[in-house]
Amino acid sequence: MREVTNRSMEIRLKIWRQESPESNGYFEEFLVENISPEASLLEALDSLNERLTLENRRPISFDSDCREGICGTCGFVINGRPHGPFPGVTTCQLHMRMFEKAGLLVLEPFRGGPFKVLKDLIVDRSGLDRIIQAGGFISVSTGSAPEANSILVPKNLAEEAFNAAACIGCGACVAACPNGSAMLFTAAKIKHLNILPQGKAESKKRTKNMLDAMINEGFGACSNHGECETVCPKRISLETINFAFKEGLSS
Ligand code: FES
Repeated sequence: MREVTNRSMEIRLKIWRQESPESNGYFEEFLVENISPEASLLEALDSLNERLTLENRRPISFDSDCREGICGTCGFVINGRPHGPFPGVTTCQLHMRMFEKAGLLVLEPFRGGPFKVLKDLIVDRSGLDRIIQAGGFISVSTGSAPEANSILVPKNLAEEAFNAAACIGCGACVAACPNGSAMLFTAAKIKHLNILPQGKAESKKRTKNMLDAMINEGFGACSNHGECETVCPKRISLETINFAFKEGLSS
């Protein structure tokens, strides 16, 4: 169990401000004082926003929902890296104690491909939703639920599918890629369905439609840099892209 302390810390935040997609952006610096090292980074922003609101100033806009690393809603670039310097975590899983020696954190929106800054740290990631709409599902007849064991799934395939399905669609892979590619995201969504017996029937159509959608949305092609794998909070591997490429070539 972590020891609870009454310590507090302060941190300087340099944050990207932009009122609308059309307006020019700029950096604004803030000092956040008396924050607990046990507070999350998003709680530090909440506290800053309370202060800004009391001062009749515009609060910082940022996305979050579950704040548990599950939903993929949060995410911005921290000191040049999507989701910050610690591997395998989302922005909402960062705590102030991790930055006790940092002094200054520079927060910027996820930029890349068709992601457009909507306001401050919020970008439009709806392009990822439209890739899912193009094929990230299986078509089944409605009716009563089938018997659970009527389709046997080998354990190794179930595990591979599960690993790919861990993608939460946060968009960090796009923000990290010099080519603004959504290939790691798209490949993970293709793989977790195509590899299972239930997804096989539509695998070729799914692969083609999702890859086409990715290109049509304006995301770049994979540039083999591998930055996407490095920043992925769910550690989706580059091998996932290999799988999708092979599926694409055979369709
Ligand atoms: S808010 Fe849900 S993953 Fe961060």
